[in-house]
Amino acid sequence: MIELRPQGAVQHNLIAPSLLAANFGNLEKEMAWFNDSAADWLHLDVMDGVFVPNISFGFPVLEYVARLTSKPLDVHLMIVQPEKFISQVRDLGAAVMNVHQEACLHLHRTVQQIHEAGMRAAVTLNPATPVSTLEEIIGDLDVVMLMTVNPGFGAQKFIEHSLDKVRRLRALIQRTGSKALIEVDGGVNRTTAPLLREAGVDVYVTGSAVFGSADPAREVDVMKGLTAIE
Ligand code: DX5
Ligand code: ZN
Repeated sequence: MIELRPQGAVQHNLIAPSLLAANFGNLEKEMAWFNDSAADWLHLDVMDGVFVPNISFGFPVLEYVARLTSKPLDVHLMIVQPEKFISQVRDLGAAVMNVHQEACLHLHRTVQQIHEAGMRAAVTLNPATPVSTLEEIIGDLDVVMLMTVNPGFGAQKFIEHSLDKVRRLRALIQRTGSKALIEVDGGVNRTTAPLLREAGVDVYVTGSAVFGSADPAREVDVMKGLTAIE
């Protein structure tokens, strides 16, 4: 399993570009800049048209993309009954399997099964789902992802209230001694990333801000704080 929190690091600064915003007409080119950039994980958004009001891509595309990178894959399943696909996600070589709290009737069992399959378990909360719903399971999680928009579409407006939610999650993690990383997804860009960092975020999913940029690798650097904004 990949090491998510290196020894001594209190807060991570990982960027996970979301393929949803990529040019699917030229995935090789998109993956070439991604591989050469400082980006850390590849975020893959799977939508089923049931859990969210949109359909994205499925296993044929995931398998193709997985062959184009050796960076960790973060597979975000916006689908009902994600537990049905644990072995298929494992077979992709995914590092992180990301399921929604709202989509899992037996979340504890699903998290156990993700771990048994050799992957890191991430649980995502929709904007209206309180952090407190994870209180009983936070110690078992590798990542908690907060949706900072309603899931289903890229390029939506960041929900400002999410900053308080990140702080509540950080407090829960500290209080319980959980090792979980805090990830955010939706409306993350060079303006919102610094605010999120201050609130305690470790992993930044970013779609349109990076793939829509003329220089995506530089945008990653800016979000990481490696390049100053002129
Ligand atoms: C939304 C997806 C996101 C999306 C983020 O349902 O889970 O990963 O691609 O896109 P931006 O960064 O454009 O808000
Ligand atoms: Zn996502």
